[in-house]
Amino acid sequence: MNNREPIGVFDSGVGGISVLRELVKVMPCENYIYMGDSRHAPYGTKSLEEVRTLTIGNVEKLLERGAKSIVVACNTATSAAVAILREKYPELPLVGIEPAIKPAVLAKQQSRIVVMATPMTVRLEKFQKLMAQYEDQAEIIPLPCPGLMEFIEQGDLCSEELRRYLTELLWTVHDRQIDSIVLGCTHYPFVRPMITEIVGTEVAIFDGGNGTAREMKRRLALAQKLTDAADKGKVCFYNSRDTEEERKLCEFLLHSGA
Ligand code: DGL
Repeated sequence: MNNREPIGVFDSGVGGISVLRELVKVMPCENYIYMGDSRHAPYGTKSLEEVRTLTIGNVEKLLERGAKSIVVACNTATSAAVAILREKYPELPLVGIEPAIKPAVLAKQQSRIVVMATPMTVRLEKFQKLMAQYEDQAEIIPLPCPGLMEFIEQGDLCSEELRRYLTELLWTVHDRQIDSIVLGCTHYPFVRPMITEIVGTEVAIFDGGNGTAREMKRRLALAQKLTDAADKGKVCFYNSRDTEEERKLCEFLLHSGA
């Protein structure tokens, strides 16, 4: 059997599990190691240098554990560090995630699109360039969401407090008749049902998880690193907040339908 080394998946916390579950759907026979840095989360309100250092350190840990490729399943870490990682590991199949603005633009002409993301993601040049690419095809409204990832880190996907937070946040843009919302942070797909409850089913919601998983498959195929195993692969979780509670939350999120 060839290429059974795991695919390494990294996020600042448990959010990247929304990408991991897409990876498992797209490549069920691969093995995975997931590294969540919950002890240092959130990344989105830290300095650029801090996020770079933390990201590089966590990617190194995944490679030490034998990862054959890396998915940076964090929009914030991708914006801050993916260029440095590509330079450092030119041969490595490495995929980052960015807000899924393109599919939202393609879904409806001249639409009004809200991009929910961390303060750092919307501030950095990578996002500004992405927005500029589509500015003549849609109205794109960035919506920084400080404090939102913390709910998901605590396993809170449906409390009244979360509902209040999201209602107040979305109220600031909802009066502008939005057509779609892009979830530009990998934590947010876990609260998608509640966002839909608040904005209504006529607002389309996009996230980059599936596109990222398909891109990793393409890159592994190109590098001839896809496994030829036919049995189901395993997922192994590591978290810098090494508690039983955290492990349970990771398993719960991997199998949650949210
Ligand atoms: N999950 C991360 C992202 O996609 C960020 C959350 C954070 O650490 O602030 O941006």
